Amino acid sequence: MPSLPHSDELIFFVNGRKVIRLTGTKYFCGGGGCGACTVMMSRYNSTTKAIHHYPATACLVPICSLYGAAVTTVEGVGSIKTRIHPVQERLAKCHGMQCGFCSPGMVMSIYTLLRNHQEPTPEQITKALAGNLCRCTGYRPIVESGKTFCESTVCELKGSGKCCMDQEYGSLVNRWEKMCTKLYNEDEFQPLDPSQEPIFPSELIRTAEDPNKRRLTFQGERTTWITPATLNDLLELKANFPKGPLVMGNTELGPSIKFKNEFHPVFISPLGLPELHFVNTTDDGKHLLFQIRCAGYSLAQLNDALHFIVLEQPKEETKTHRALLKHLRTLAGAQIRNMATLGGHVVSRPNFSDLNPILAAGNAAINLISKGQQQIPLNGPFLERSPEADLKSEEIVSSVYIPYSAQSRHFVFGLRMAQRQENAFAIVNAEMSVKFEDGTNTIKELQMFYGSVGPTTVSASQTCKQLIGRQWDNQMLSDACRWVLDEIYIPPAAEGGMVEYRRTLIISLLFKFYLKVRRGLDQMDPQKFPNIPEKFMSALEDFPIETRQGIQMFQVGGQDPVGHPVMHQSAIKHTTGEAVYIDDMPCIDQELFLAPITKALALPGVVDVITAEDVPGDNNYQGEIFCAQNEVICMGQVVGTVAADTYAHAREAAKKPRIITIEHNLFLSDEKKIEQGNVEQAFKYVDQIIKGEVHVEEQEHLYMETSPILALPKEEDKEMVLHLGTQYPTRVQEYVAAALNVPRNRITCRMKRTGGVFGGKVAKPAVLGAVSAVAANKTGRPIWFILERGDDMLITAGRHPLLGKYKIGFMNNGVIKAADVKYYVNGGCTPDECEISLCFASTQVVEFIVLKSENAYYIPNFRCRGSACKTNLPSNTAFRGFGFPQGTVVVEAYIIAVASQCNLPPEEVKEINMHKRISKTAFKQTFNPEPLRRCWKECLEKSSFYARKLAAEEFNKKNYWQKRGLAIVPMKLSMGIPTAYYNQAAALVHIYLDGSVLVTHGGCELGQGLYTKMIQVASHELNIPQSYIHLSETSTVTVPNGVLTSGSMGTDINGKAVQNVCQTLMAHLHPIIRKNRKGKWEDWIAKAFEDSISLSATGYFKGYQTNMDWEKGEGNAYPYYVYGAAYSEVEVDCLTGAHKLLRTDIFMDAAFSINPALHIGQIEGAFIQGMGFYTIEELKYSPEGVLYSRSPDDYKIPTVTEIPEEFYGLGEAGMFLGSSVLFAIYDAVAAARRERGLAKTFVLSSPATPEMIRMTCVDQFTDMVREVPVVVIDFQVVVSNQNKI
Ligand SMILES: Cc1cc2nc3c(=O)[nH]c(=O)nc-3n(C[C@H](O)[C@H](O)[C@H](O)COP(=O)(O)OP(=O)(O)OC[C@H]3O[C@@H](n4cnc5c(N)ncnc54)[C@H](O)[C@@H]3O)c2cc1C
Ligand code: FES
Ligand code: FES
Repeated sequence: MPSLPHSDELIFFVNGRKVIRLTGTKYFCGGGGCGACTVMMSRYNSTTKAIHHYPATACLVPICSLYGAAVTTVEGVGSIKTRIHPVQERLAKCHGMQCGFCSPGMVMSIYTLLRNHQEPTPEQITKALAGNLCRCTGYRPIVESGKTFCESTVCELKGSGKCCMDQEYGSLVNRWEKMCTKLYNEDEFQPLDPSQEPIFPSELIRTAEDPNKRRLTFQGERTTWITPATLNDLLELKANFPKGPLVMGNTELGPSIKFKNEFHPVFISPLGLPELHFVNTTDDGKHLLFQIRCAGYSLAQLNDALHFIVLEQPKEETKTHRALLKHLRTLAGAQIRNMATLGGHVVSRPNFSDLNPILAAGNAAINLISKGQQQIPLNGPFLERSPEADLKSEEIVSSVYIPYSAQSRHFVFGLRMAQRQENAFAIVNAEMSVKFEDGTNTIKELQMFYGSVGPTTVSASQTCKQLIGRQWDNQMLSDACRWVLDEIYIPPAAEGGMVEYRRTLIISLLFKFYLKVRRGLDQMDPQKFPNIPEKFMSALEDFPIETRQGIQMFQVGGQDPVGHPVMHQSAIKHTTGEAVYIDDMPCIDQELFLAPITKALALPGVVDVITAEDVPGDNNYQGEIFCAQNEVICMGQVVGTVAADTYAHAREAAKKPRIITIEHNLFLSDEKKIEQGNVEQAFKYVDQIIKGEVHVEEQEHLYMETSPILALPKEEDKEMVLHLGTQYPTRVQEYVAAALNVPRNRITCRMKRTGGVFGGKVAKPAVLGAVSAVAANKTGRPIWFILERGDDMLITAGRHPLLGKYKIGFMNNGVIKAADVKYYVNGGCTPDECEISLCFASTQVVEFIVLKSENAYYIPNFRCRGSACKTNLPSNTAFRGFGFPQGTVVVEAYIIAVASQCNLPPEEVKEINMHKRISKTAFKQTFNPEPLRRCWKECLEKSSFYARKLAAEEFNKKNYWQKRGLAIVPMKLSMGIPTAYYNQAAALVHIYLDGSVLVTHGGCELGQGLYTKMIQVASHELNIPQSYIHLSETSTVTVPNGVLTSGSMGTDINGKAVQNVCQTLMAHLHPIIRKNRKGKWEDWIAKAFEDSISLSATGYFKGYQTNMDWEKGEGNAYPYYVYGAAYSEVEVDCLTGAHKLLRTDIFMDAAFSINPALHIGQIEGAFIQGMGFYTIEELKYSPEGVLYSRSPDDYKIPTVTEIPEEFYGLGEAGMFLGSSVLFAIYDAVAAARRERGLAKTFVLSSPATPEMIRMTCVDQFTDMVREVPVVVIDFQVVVSNQNKI
């Protein structure tokens, strides 16, 4: 396989253009954390004579390690040109994608599973997908497509009208005759035929069987790769190059080289050596002795081996093995588990290791070989990297000895807490073992190890020593907690922050261990050792990982294409990897690659450096600075760029320090205000007044494809063409023209598709486009500017953090009479989307927050103000909902606070204050809230809210350490933009002489299926099959001055423009059709041409006539409103802060849907994205504004495990409905606090992270930790804090 000429990179990077011309395998993170680059590896094992297929993340597979392996990429699975594989077909037809960027990875994960299990279980499907991130769909349809291969699927409802889960919904289908649950037709699916799969190449079997293997050497520019032929050869190499790392799974080494600048001149790669894949089972009469030459054994193979042992051996003797199995279930995704080796894991000793501490607690030992052989204990000193306990540089690990747990009074448990349940490093893990004196509960041996509390795994050896001889009782526990807190010190500036939380986890996990052992002792001798209280039982188990189930219901249309769940136009191309994104486009002669940097011209491959001085036009356009001049106003501002001949050289040159200056307390815009009634007066007459503050932190878009740009300078007339992934080509055109000082008619912006946006590609591509254009202009060469994930997260920023302050006056019966609310958003260093007075004013975040700040409630005396504050953070930008998801958290929070003050249930106070009849907003726009009340009522009824509330209360009475909570939230969401001209749209349609139709319009295909819906509209209007119609791309050449595609208005306004142009064309054709009614479309077109009738036309939609007069605070700000309600129920673990989403019901009134499948996809995707925003997504900063969270490893979005156990949806939902999870968590935490006799109200902030949940469920452990307050220095900056804005 050819690699890049002159490349010194050994990383196998399959993203088509760079290595081999394949476009399917995608690149998102480069660190194994997302699964977008999943491929199937196949290797032949000459000992077992078996072929082993496994999934791997290509970004971490060194190209030289592939000798002897077959790699199947998505292209090898199936293609439109040859044959589509059933996995690809079903993912497409089940609507399991939107932007499609994750789809090839999803296909490869399911495909590899099917190669090993032709009829997998639903659990296996979920497990196989746990290492694949999708930011668009919410995972449900992806899992569902996989489940079509299972023998029996969970829900029988599809098509039959009967539901195995919930009769309520089954009856609903019957009652609402026009309701449908069938989004696809299973009868269309091709069957899976394993005989059609590619055969493993026989030459690879011959190579593997070859007895005369030779050492392989690959020589690169700076590095040498050596693959030894035998074990002796390996030992010789290791003796000659003791510092040369052994590359096994490369899951530790690879990221260190890529992200931490580690360099190694020599790599030794023994991965394929049969001597390191050796498993031997013998029998000593009592035990199965299981020896694993583990150096080459993957964690997945280890998992299988442990399963075998656990099945064969008595339970009490395999406690260590079981503890390992439990952690292996959640350790990374399937790809990493199949790549990473036990040898690599043991030797690399990551401080977050989930396995090493268990091995140490289970008294494991490491067998080493060099010239001789020796065994060293895998114990505390080894894990703490004490030099005398370590292996020598020439030694290699050959196997790990895992002893059987010696006796029944020996307990080994592993406990962990992570930001999400699967595929996330532990925030803290604890692995402990205890042995007791015979017949007693007197401690004979005790070992406690903690991970993620320091630079290495830490042993609490002093505490353990002090506890020998003590009884296993409460007094022992209390002493153990104090001593272990003294022994394990986490400094205030510790990496990762969360110091108080992690200290709390140290003792909370110890408490869990204590309870587990007490129960174990009781099970052995109930007379002697009393069991733990029944109420404590729920503290013992982690939340189970369940297979998800759900129903989606929607209203059906007739036979018309409009109203049907038509598959996304590019769906098949997404799943075959043939959909071309910018990074997949072919190489261009003279191309250069751009990276954001400072000075680096002297480095290899660097062609030019581009700075502010090279901008021929305006470098500061509308407050957006393309290249920093004089001062750098935030961490991550583009200071300049370097253009180099390869990506690798461009990136290398960019690794230079940046300068920052910090300024505070500046506003980016004037305050925005709306007011009704007489607020001050009303406060005088209310029964009670409360004041409060709510913090809502920011959110990173984490779209799968980083902002991509290809700028092509033309030879003539200063023309330039830019290929983009953007929501707003017009704005890029405008900025590029300004930067180059040319008229806009010289700049062409083209946009075909992009891998996710969520608002993040409205404003930023304009700045990045200008930077690229300046580079292309200066060098005269094509410029690729595709940001690395970390740079994208740093530079493009995200959703605005918000501080809300409220003063609420209300009566004792819960009726709110007056509200005075003030919002501050942290806008970052430039106006971007939060400032009001610019040309894109109407999309601004502050304005949206203020106008939408009432949500569903009527408060007669209401004042709301909002300001955007300037800070030295990168400039925050648009994000799904434009401030609504932040602002309404404040509203729901004060409603809950009022309910608490009045001793009323929140849902009652919500209902009391909800709009009831045709009504006016605070800015005097009339609307009818009838659909809102209907959704609210349906949601209460269908979720069985009151019955579930009672059940949750019962549960809470019986469980002290786990609590259930539930919440229902209403939603009144305004659509569109308050400035009329931002609601306009245009379309251009050509009919060709063969009858085929080409549609173009100003909207961008972002994964939401806009093109598909426009084809449906055109098909309806022209009355021709959808197959006649094509939609290729959006371009400033075909439709000028297009407005941004966002805010769920793309279909609405572009649909009207397409409808308009189609009606114009039909009017042209009408006389011909009238004369020849029986004729065909093709005949009419031919005739029209003969009659010189134009077959091309433009269409136009003037836009909704919205307006907003900010002077008066009045206007018809929005074209219309959509209404909804969502119910969520959670369970929280008060000891760790983990939560489990048990159920969600969404009801939305979205009027008539053009394409229910695409709309439901938007609902679920937005809900899951919202849920992530309100719960686990958390960015970490230094006090200087350095963003620490720059990869999916540091910033956790929901995976397939986080979606609700039960998910019922009707209609279209917004991001905000995800807040039902936040408020359900709040309800559960409130229940915990009530039981502990704590204050009724507490500060509610978003996200409700595990840290927030745990530290709010105050108990003896948090008290113990807070006895010594910690002044946190780093990682814990709250960017919504007032002192920062
Ligand atoms: C996305 C991702 C998620 C992860 N999640 C988790 C998690 O949740 N929990 C967890 O515990 N871990 C997690 N890990 C870490 C993972 O378990 C380790 O990276 C892995 O076990 C290392 O094994 P490897 O074979 O890839 O080592 P490599 O990267 O190949 O090698 C690592 C080091 O070990 C040395 N080495 C390897 N084998 C031997 C040997 N036989 N003898 C001597 N030296 C040797 C090498 O010289 C090298 O220095 C994650 C990793 C990734 C990339
Ligand atoms: S790009 Fe390989 S796992 Fe993310
Ligand atoms: S469809 Fe999965 S990331 Fe867009």
